[in-house]
Amino acid sequence: MSSRPLLSSLVDKFSGIAKVPGDKSISHRSLILSSQVIGRSKITGLLESDDVINTSQALSALGVEIEKDNDVWYVDGVGIGGLSQSDEVLDMGNSGTGVRLMMGLVAPYPFTTSFTGDESLQKRPMGRVMKPLEKMGAIFQAREENLPPLSVKGSNYMVPITYELPVASAQVKSAILLAALNIPGKTTVVEPEATRDHTELMMKYLGVNIKREGQSISIEGQPELKAKDINVPADPSSAAFLTVAALIIPGAKITIKNVCVNPLRIGLYKTLTEMGAKISFDNEREEAGEKIADITVQYSKLKAVDVPAGRAPSMIDEYPILSVAAAFADGKTIMNGLRELRVKESDRLQVMSDGLTACGIKNEISGDSLIVHGSKEIKGGGDIKTHMDHRIAMSFLVMGMAAKKPIKVDDGSMINTSFPGFVDLMNSLGARIT
Ligand code: S3P
Repeated sequence: MSSRPLLSSLVDKFSGIAKVPGDKSISHRSLILSSQVIGRSKITGLLESDDVINTSQALSALGVEIEKDNDVWYVDGVGIGGLSQSDEVLDMGNSGTGVRLMMGLVAPYPFTTSFTGDESLQKRPMGRVMKPLEKMGAIFQAREENLPPLSVKGSNYMVPITYELPVASAQVKSAILLAALNIPGKTTVVEPEATRDHTELMMKYLGVNIKREGQSISIEGQPELKAKDINVPADPSSAAFLTVAALIIPGAKITIKNVCVNPLRIGLYKTLTEMGAKISFDNEREEAGEKIADITVQYSKLKAVDVPAGRAPSMIDEYPILSVAAAFADGKTIMNGLRELRVKESDRLQVMSDGLTACGIKNEISGDSLIVHGSKEIKGGGDIKTHMDHRIAMSFLVMGMAAKKPIKVDDGSMINTSFPGFVDLMNSLGARIT
């Protein structure tokens, strides 16, 4: 893919009513779980981004028929145990979620499935998923240090397990739950801290016997599931960029419609509210177990806060954009418990810190914490290296909207992995991104 440099300049207005694309996590799960039911599922609101398209193509390569008619997607479920061997290597592109969930899905099958991905994905640790799946009976072959490309083969003798997750990771939890769907008996996963529960909610919606007790989630394998329609709400992690843009541009006000406000996804909104942000969730409702609301945000004077480590799972993807808000806040914002940021699409802790420095913002990394010193005036003018990370690119483009000098990001092409149409949408609300 060729790189696409982008430049974001100071704006004097940012307002309107916006729709951001479907939630990435729920989109992956809607395709994957629809492939495991009997019958045809209709999916609306699906995020049509590179990451999700790669998951759809991987499922097709495993024998699932998927059709698209305008904005509506149809998946013909093959039932649990109904996938067939792929004759191609599954290329999951930039997506950690895609590869880890799909590894879990295919792990029980007595045939080999091979996965690869882009330069960034080939640096991301897969041992955390391989370990529990190996305990269930799958056999893996991977590069040194359990990096992709890798292959997995299951057997007819897979066993259910009880597994304590060493890291709070929804991807690892989901990989185990997806493998467990196709293994007779009861599998239990214990989380150190609650992480996003979209897999559990969607499984429940589709009729799986899955229960949470405290930090343990138990699932009965090999149910027979029938197709049900799924509507994917908008992504709160994408809405976060519009939210922070509105907060830092004097006079701004925006409403973002139909956003997923699952309590395990809204740590950023909680933190911003503590910082003094004027944010409201209106028209709250529930669909297929997921909470949805319209979010309205207006320009606010922000003050620094300490963000507790325990909040990290509910805002794990939002630290880059929170750092932007922190740069405009009065005082020193301290974000704790960020170790997992080192193994995201880039080493987000370092890449964010370097970008802030390039824009004239004082900051320090101390252990697993990032400290950002807020300032009344952000110099900007930085030349940001995004390291193939969509959220780094979008965060600095938002910063450029309120900085004195334009901010340039080296490559905006990765934005398509999660937020296609980002530049056009932002510009339609008042941004000047070229
Ligand atoms: C995701 C889980 C998180 C998050 C990622 C999406 C998911 O990753 O960062 O963007 O859909 O399950 P981890 O499980 O590595 O924390």
